[in-house]
Amino acid sequence: MGVSSRREILQAGLAAAGGLAFACTRGRPSAAAETRSAPDVELALRAAPAEAILDPASRRPVGVWRYEGRLVKGRSGTLTDATTGALGPTIRVRPGDHVRVRFENALPESSIVHWHGLDVPEESDGHPRFAVGPGGSRTYDFVVAGRPATAWYHPHPDGRTGAQVYAGLAGLFIVSDGDDEARGLPVGPFDLPIVIQDRLFGPDGALAYAPNPILGMLGDRVLVNGVEDATLDVREGSTRLRILNGSNARIYKLAWSDGSPVVVIATDGGLLAAPVAKPYVMLAPGERIEIWTEFGRSPTGSRVTLESLAFDAGASGMGMGGMGMGMMGGGRGRSGPANGAALTVCRFSVRGAGRKLPLPRRLDPPAFRPAAEVVNGREPRRFEVSMAMMRWMLNGAPFEMEEVAANERIKRGVTEDWEFANLAGMMALPHPIHIHGGQFQIVSRAGASAPTVADGLVDGGWKDTFLLLPGERVRVRVRFARHAGLFLYHCHNLEHEDMGMMRNFRVET
Ligand code: C2O
Ligand code: CU
Ligand code: CU
Repeated sequence: MGVSSRREILQAGLAAAGGLAFACTRGRPSAAAETRSAPDVELALRAAPAEAILDPASRRPVGVWRYEGRLVKGRSGTLTDATTGALGPTIRVRPGDHVRVRFENALPESSIVHWHGLDVPEESDGHPRFAVGPGGSRTYDFVVAGRPATAWYHPHPDGRTGAQVYAGLAGLFIVSDGDDEARGLPVGPFDLPIVIQDRLFGPDGALAYAPNPILGMLGDRVLVNGVEDATLDVREGSTRLRILNGSNARIYKLAWSDGSPVVVIATDGGLLAAPVAKPYVMLAPGERIEIWTEFGRSPTGSRVTLESLAFDAGASGMGMGGMGMGMMGGGRGRSGPANGAALTVCRFSVRGAGRKLPLPRRLDPPAFRPAAEVVNGREPRRFEVSMAMMRWMLNGAPFEMEEVAANERIKRGVTEDWEFANLAGMMALPHPIHIHGGQFQIVSRAGASAPTVADGLVDGGWKDTFLLLPGERVRVRVRFARHAGLFLYHCHNLEHEDMGMMRNFRVET
């Protein structure tokens, strides 16, 4: 408590000082029509080199890049600094809040911030064409639309997203309406964010960024909330875990060490209609999943571990993994284990009594878009994963800053089905596909043969990122109702994205 109240005092002081500097940026024409009103929340967010302790055992500081936040205006509790590791502050806002963020780039290279999971105007979405150079800044202005959900923010510059996220630039953006207690959900200290990232350290103890060109950057240590070998102190009773896979390329198969089912209550776009019990859950880079857990349950009692179990993401997935290690793992000669290797994520040490709550039977119906609304149900728009010259692409084309193909123009407010196919044959790998511009629903999956993965896919809620397995066709139902403009869809394997597995689409009025 001491730390947080000190922070609040510090923030209040800084806010007074920041108000003046902020006044100068007010008149800039970056605000869209919907955000002409005075903001409810104003933040300053600075990306800068820093030092962080990622391994509490050694306590050795490691060079990282980090977001530092400062609350200029808004409710106390809007910003919570991560107390450990390199993660940026957790931002907490309410639906309907008008948010203004002044981003300052104190990195030695260009960057831009993207609000992953939010539906914001194009000029505030962090498109790489808006990247600002060292010393530059940019003001974001948006209204938080949509349902309460666990979103996040991270850099999005062309070709450098992977390196920058890996260096530490990422943070949670939690949208909460304050009604979770009334919904019967655990709140306060029993609502616990878990950010999972893997990292590789060089012999000097520094972060090593040596991505495999085909597989992406795979580490050999798992960091939770920014630290290695994490043990989280929790109380006995009901807890909500908000889990983000903030890794560059690693997919997790999350399960409890005592074999308890994983009870899912929410995904990318917020609460499910009802809790779903799964033997394990798959979580690909960029995805979020929220689970309900009873700590202190028998037989584990005071200790339980969140594991990532071994899996085979498809016939050629593991094969590629093996080949990657042998043939292409070269470079600096080291890489973490392939996707599908078993890993321990974190431990929970259960101490003291909390509160046991009954698991709600119903949560919040997602109100999906009915098939009758779909204008292209018979002929969905098709997007195919392909590879040429050792480069991943979408529909045979790599990313071009401003380019939009004929197949990438969509009318605002129209409901369409889009079908993503991953038929790259021998080379097929799983790809987490992410679409900017708000949440969609998953209509169907067909074609994959991945028995060690299938039971862990949670498709029953609103999503912004989904795992596309080798051999699979996934149909999603999209509608971009709020903002016209140029947005992105891409693979959230950040090295795939950086290599060009990203395209624009244009929402037209
Ligand atoms: Cu989380 Cu376009 O990315
Ligand atoms: Cu996004
Ligand atoms: Cu990919």
